[in-house]
Amino acid sequence: MAVVREEDIHNACVLIVDDQAYNITLLRMILRDSGYTNILATTDSREALPMYEKHRPDLVLLDLQMPHIDGFGVMDQLREVEHSSVVPILVLTAELDPEVRYKALQSGARDFLNKPFDRIETVVRIRNLIEVQLLHKHIVRQNEILESKVRDRTQELRDTQMEIIHRLGHAAEYKDNETGNHIIRMGLLCGVLGEAVGMAPQACEMLRHASPMHDVGKIGIPDRVLLKPGKLDPDEWEVMKTHAAIGTDLLSGSKSPLVQMAATIALTHHERWDGTGYPYRLRGEGIPLVGRIAAVCDVFDALTSDRPYKRAWTVEDSLEEIRRGAGTHFDPALVTLFDANIAEILAIRAQYHED
Ligand code: C2E
Ligand code: SIN
Ligand code: SIN
Ligand code: SIN
Ligand code: FE
Ligand code: FE
Repeated sequence: MAVVREEDIHNACVLIVDDQAYNITLLRMILRDSGYTNILATTDSREALPMYEKHRPDLVLLDLQMPHIDGFGVMDQLREVEHSSVVPILVLTAELDPEVRYKALQSGARDFLNKPFDRIETVVRIRNLIEVQLLHKHIVRQNEILESKVRDRTQELRDTQMEIIHRLGHAAEYKDNETGNHIIRMGLLCGVLGEAVGMAPQACEMLRHASPMHDVGKIGIPDRVLLKPGKLDPDEWEVMKTHAAIGTDLLSGSKSPLVQMAATIALTHHERWDGTGYPYRLRGEGIPLVGRIAAVCDVFDALTSDRPYKRAWTVEDSLEEIRRGAGTHFDPALVTLFDANIAEILAIRAQYHED
């Protein structure tokens, strides 16, 4: 067994709990002669628990019949505090009654050492149990190391994905928005509305990351249209509307549920509740919920912001425009919830304002 070295075995911590000082002396001698260097002992069973907790021994040699707390009581106490693994207990007993021995095994004893102690048997049984215990600890440690490595890698991967997603969202807004704050606000506003409408926490989290990509298709719109300071003519408007389909093309076909949600939002954020939106003139609940949520938040944020073609509206006027759109442009239930959560929405605007 390469992982458990001779040196580790001899350095293993052994705790002896026996009310008879003579037994302790005898076991100490046997252990010392076999090369063990780390031996603790007490004749007072009330000391067993604090000593165990302080030293976390690799093996406990435990007497059964003791004043104050007997061996069964000690085993109960140790089981309470040892969550990570089985407590390594070798019961010292003169008792041969099978009932008592079964009870001891059920209480957590790994093995027995019969009194009076046979030197060879004592050495072998102790060594066996320590070896198993050290191996067990080694495996637990290896697993912890592996798990923490996997956790680190997974987190790293997640962070990278989130960064790329946010950079992509930013790229989409790069030309017609002054700063990246529109996409941050968009994510947070959609999160507020998602929570308010009762979406599961995990779905809300996904919505917060997916919604900032709603306008990624604007990457494919020529500057002469996207950055036109004034009103678009009908041809330009047709070009402009393709940003929904372009965004969907860029995002579709992904295995990632997050990117799938982003594709849905890109496709449906300009649909209208009354069926007059684009690109598919979807109507009512035929529009995916995440698209309906993005529509409300996108328009509110666009109205309250400067664009190449318009100046920012006041919050009051913008909110009034959202309310006016209930049942025509927007899902009326979502407008009600938007109103109900206006304090949180204004707090997000205040934190990520444009200056
Ligand atoms: P955007 O600037 O991000 O605006 C998103 C949505 O907010 C618009 O979707 C519209 O529903 C709403 N919105 C923005 N400004 C106003 C406004 O002044 N009044 C009203 N009532 N609603 C407003 P929409 O209309 O589908 O436009 C999609 C995108 O097309 C806009 O995204 C913007 O990039 C572009 N666009 C729209 N109208 C014009 C325009 O007159 N000139 C130029 N250059 N671009 C425009
Ligand atoms: C003793 O208490 O030392 C002997 C009895 C026993 O442990 O079973
Ligand atoms: C933006 O559209 O988010 C930037 C412009 C502004 O809010 O003034
Ligand atoms: C729904 O999930 O469709 C009900 C919530 C809403 O659209 O307001
Ligand atoms: Fe859009
Ligand atoms: Fe937008």
